[in-house]
Amino acid sequence: MSAMDEGHRIVVLASGRGTNLQALIDAAERGDIKGRIVAVISDRKKAFALERAKKHGIDAVYIPPKGKTREEYDRILLKTLERYRPTLIVLAGYMRILTPIVVRAYRNRIMNIHPALLPSFGGKGYYGERVHRAVLEYGCKVSGCTVHFVDEEVDHGPIIVQRCVPVLEGDTPETLAERVLAEEHRALVEAVRLFCEGRLRVEGRIVRIVR
Ligand code: GAR
Repeated sequence: MSAMDEGHRIVVLASGRGTNLQALIDAAERGDIKGRIVAVISDRKKAFALERAKKHGIDAVYIPPKGKTREEYDRILLKTLERYRPTLIVLAGYMRILTPIVVRAYRNRIMNIHPALLPSFGGKGYYGERVHRAVLEYGCKVSGCTVHFVDEEVDHGPIIVQRCVPVLEGDTPETLAERVLAEEHRALVEAVRLFCEGRLRVEGRIVRIVR
């Protein structure tokens, strides 16, 4: 296969352990995704996601946030991204809010995975375990995950894929998180696969999946 037809160039941004990243790496290695993960970028030096990248021969880049404003950070991030010429950027457990500097440069080419059914339990302050705690405290009977394109508002852009799980009697934030996470891996791979096959059409807030 020549460099021309290798498919999409995916850059993943991750702050943590990177199980969603791993799901993408595995899917790409299986050939389920018509694309290649060319770099993983993190704002946390110790993010296990960086180790996962290295183990699979993927460039692992740490950009230290200390002493930088969000804008300063994102200008460096943008420069780093440009080096990799991504056709798709995936936020997989990335714990920073992107500024318009990055969002505008890659409109409808940045996806985020969120561990709840948006627009519920999303926005500033809703991340990781806090989301699942809030779902349980509200008394929801279902939860799930959402993959969406990133726009200027937090957890707000057009929805690509959602998957549901039941909330069970006796659930803790941890048990619910685990059930949701299994669906996240499926949802994220599905969204990236559709994108790489050129099957997503964004019409305003609506993402149409074309055949
Ligand atoms: C995932 O549950 C993801 O949805 C969540 O962080 C976790 C990362 O797990 N993201 C957010 O809460 C963003 N608002 P991972 O590092 O194992 O992929």
